[in-house]
Amino acid sequence: MKAWLLKDFGLHNLQPGDVTTPAPQPGELLVKVGAVSLNFRDKAIVDGIYEPHLVPKPLIPVSDAAGTVVAVGAGVTRFQVGDRVNSTLYSRWIDGAPGPDEPAYCIGMPLPGGLAEYMILHEDSAVPAPASMSDEEASTLPIAALTAWYSLMDVGHLEPGQTVLVQGTGGVSVFAAQIAAAHGARVIVTSSKDENLAKIKTLVGNAKVEGVNYRTHPDWERNVLELTNGLGADVTIDVAGGDGINRSVAATKVQGVVAQVGFLSGQTTALNLMPVIFRQTTIRGIAVAPRSSFERLNVFLDTHRIKPVIERVYRFDDAVQAFEHLARGPFGKVVIKIADA
Ligand SMILES: NC(=O)c1ccc[n+]([C@@H]2O[C@H](COP(=O)([O-])OP(=O)(O)OC[C@H]3O[C@@H](n4cnc5c(N)ncnc54)[C@H](OP(=O)(O)O)[C@@H]3O)[C@@H](O)[C@H]2O)c1
Repeated sequence: MKAWLLKDFGLHNLQPGDVTTPAPQPGELLVKVGAVSLNFRDKAIVDGIYEPHLVPKPLIPVSDAAGTVVAVGAGVTRFQVGDRVNSTLYSRWIDGAPGPDEPAYCIGMPLPGGLAEYMILHEDSAVPAPASMSDEEASTLPIAALTAWYSLMDVGHLEPGQTVLVQGTGGVSVFAAQIAAAHGARVIVTSSKDENLAKIKTLVGNAKVEGVNYRTHPDWERNVLELTNGLGADVTIDVAGGDGINRSVAATKVQGVVAQVGFLSGQTTALNLMPVIFRQTTIRGIAVAPRSSFERLNVFLDTHRIKPVIERVYRFDDAVQAFEHLARGPFGKVVIKIADA
């Protein structure tokens, strides 16, 4: 089969090749990949800044895929040939709390990913792709949408009428804004670009969302406090990381939740403890979510007819350009189409 292979770190070392099509072992599905979507994790793996000691070489990268089951191994009961499925990042985390070794079983690193004509998924790690979505649309869900959903619902216990703060207008944040607004929450979005704030208002509805430009308002936490009568957001999704976490704590209400999702501006931080103590903030690390949460998300997306925001779909042969697009900071998701369903 055709596959993209990461032979060493650096985008120039992501190269097309031919490899043996894998055969499904007991409990496994062979999936003809329809589309994959890119996440910052995929770029960080290629760049060698994401657990580089765990990266096998060569690696078929990219975790998030949607496709069709074309063969099943012995004993498979959850799916049959012809079913459309989504991958999940954590291939063994089904429900409840994760085990200590889940990162060792992630799709797209260290396990082979979906940037190939076919991929193997264990039947327990796949979920039915939403019937209302194409493979391109469904491929955006496993990390970006699920992380947003888990942070808001499973961790933040978001209720209608509450306020959510999201940073930027990338994959996680746009899904978070869509989900929170559909749930009846108010959304505050920060972005470096006024045009992206305008786009998200059009997408989610002017009445439900307010925007703050974090470039022209570097102390954006003050704007968030002004917009919330000095109280702050009930749930903040922090994708930026670095020392900005202190602003997230300040922008979140007393006893509120900061879901620490990302590290766009740094993997380390100097956290001011006194505000955390006095505001009694819960800072909760997020590592996507279990399969059970994905299944609840898909019901919600179907019920509310939420469609993923895809900025561009690339051809399989143009995978490198798709990674370059991700590095520029897309509005929503960048997708690579592998094959027709
Ligand atoms: N822990 C997990 O489970 C998990 C899951 C998914 C993602 N993540 C992490 O979360 C982060 C975001 O992922 P993504 O897939 O949404 O990325 P993405 O699609 O590449 O989005 C990046 C966007 O974030 C905004 N941004 C960049 N730097 C920022 C800053 N300093 N402050 C505020 N916003 C900033 C920009 O939006 P504007 O152009 O609008 O400014 C940019 O377009 C990454 O670090 C990723 O690794 C973690």
